[in-house]
Amino acid sequence: RAILHEDLKGEEILIVSNREPYIHVRASGGIQVQRPASGLVTALEPVMRACSGTWIAHGSGNADRDVVDSSDRIQVPPESPAYRLRRVWLSKAEEEGYYYGFANEGLWPLCHIAHTRPVFRATDWEQYRTVNRRFADAVVQESRTSNPIVLVQDYHFALLPRMIREKLPGATIITFWHIPWPNPEAFGLCPWRGELLEGLLGSSILGFHTQFHCNNFLDTVGRYLEARVDRETSSISLGGEATEVHRYPISIEWPPAMLAGLPDVAQCGADLRRELGVPLETKVGIGVDRLDYTKGILERFAAIERLLELEPHWVGHFTFVQVAAPSRSSIEEYQSLDARVRAAAQRINNRFGSPGCPPITLRIEHHDARRVYALYRGADVCFVSSLHDGMNLVAKEYVAARDDERGVLILSQFAGASRELMEALIVNPYDTEQCAAALRLALSMNPAEQRDRMRSMRSLVQEFNVYRWAGRMLLDASRMRHRRRLAGARR
Ligand code: G6P
Repeated sequence: RAILHEDLKGEEILIVSNREPYIHVRASGGIQVQRPASGLVTALEPVMRACSGTWIAHGSGNADRDVVDSSDRIQVPPESPAYRLRRVWLSKAEEEGYYYGFANEGLWPLCHIAHTRPVFRATDWEQYRTVNRRFADAVVQESRTSNPIVLVQDYHFALLPRMIREKLPGATIITFWHIPWPNPEAFGLCPWRGELLEGLLGSSILGFHTQFHCNNFLDTVGRYLEARVDRETSSISLGGEATEVHRYPISIEWPPAMLAGLPDVAQCGADLRRELGVPLETKVGIGVDRLDYTKGILERFAAIERLLELEPHWVGHFTFVQVAAPSRSSIEEYQSLDARVRAAAQRINNRFGSPGCPPITLRIEHHDARRVYALYRGADVCFVSSLHDGMNLVAKEYVAARDDERGVLILSQFAGASRELMEALIVNPYDTEQCAAALRLALSMNPAEQRDRMRSMRSLVQEFNVYRWAGRMLLDASRMRHRRRLAGARR
């Protein structure tokens, strides 16, 4: 963090993300401020505080409009104002087309190999372009200098970098793509693939979680654009302008603030079993996800079912708590997943239920972050079975929650986190036999092995924490600016 302060002194920083760092909602006692449990906010807020910058996001709370000034700005954090939050208001039609439509029915399934077909509607694409344009206008309005550093977040804003570049040629634009980037054939399905690539190449730096996704991006550009792709420096030149493409694996804060004030692990374990109504010696597994078809929740349930088939002695002695936060629920695919997940849990519970100890306890609801950390501490095993995932922070959170150096992480090889947390039990979620075997191993792993694995993973997350994620991108941006100042160039 000290490095950040030094390097960024005097720089103007703007962040653009779809989700806002503070949401104002009407409550019985007046207006309440909610802070989404988001790694992004944790990572970028220290940067914003250091530079008194501006965060631009979609205003989504029902009281957001009540607290802004005439230019739609508010100073945040509410308890000690340090930077500006500029809200952009979207009409119902804009939100439908840009967020639900193109971003979440088009780009999301396009980039995640989960065999859900992307849907591309020209009307959604129009709204996506319009909304990207509106955010670009907001960046230009908010910028006090001609050469700010702009941090663009995620697949909601693929067109934004170029739109900003056209208006602010001196800006240093860092775009971070939080989800996977598929291979050229898969990406090529999108009717507007060229526009998306050109939009992203307005960035000075484009970041992904893994080298594999960087390579996929270079290959995709090589396939569809007349651009110069330099693999040696991992950069792309289009029309004389260069974009560097690098890997910046996201992480979580360390030490995790959520741990402060939580009971010790033994107590969390006892509390959880009491709440579930099972004896103290019952083994408990935990899964925490948004209710999304990329997370492999049904595959996870299949592995649990297979374990109980193969080793019936676990029936009544092992229970799995699945927390699934409802997400994007006006999209049909998500509604159908909700129904299928409920039905699968019900079916497995009917088949293997023993009095008072169902194999699966399904909680489809929002859980506050501290509550989730208490669950992590109380569970013997955490199962992350994403079919495809940019990073997956649940895996890192579970490791961070276990300061007792116990507990076993089962982790999908298709989550970016598996490139770093190599001491997890790495599985292919499509391989039910392998996943059931991993569960069996996890439930019987001796404490010494648990500790050895946990210790290595904890030291990795501690070292490569979220401050380093943000710091490395900003340091690269700062070096780039320095080089360009020396070269007298514009970018
Ligand atoms: C993924 C995306 C984020 C997004 C989050 C939650 O992690 O990369 O950009 O914010 O899912 O999804 P939601 O649609 O609720 O914002």
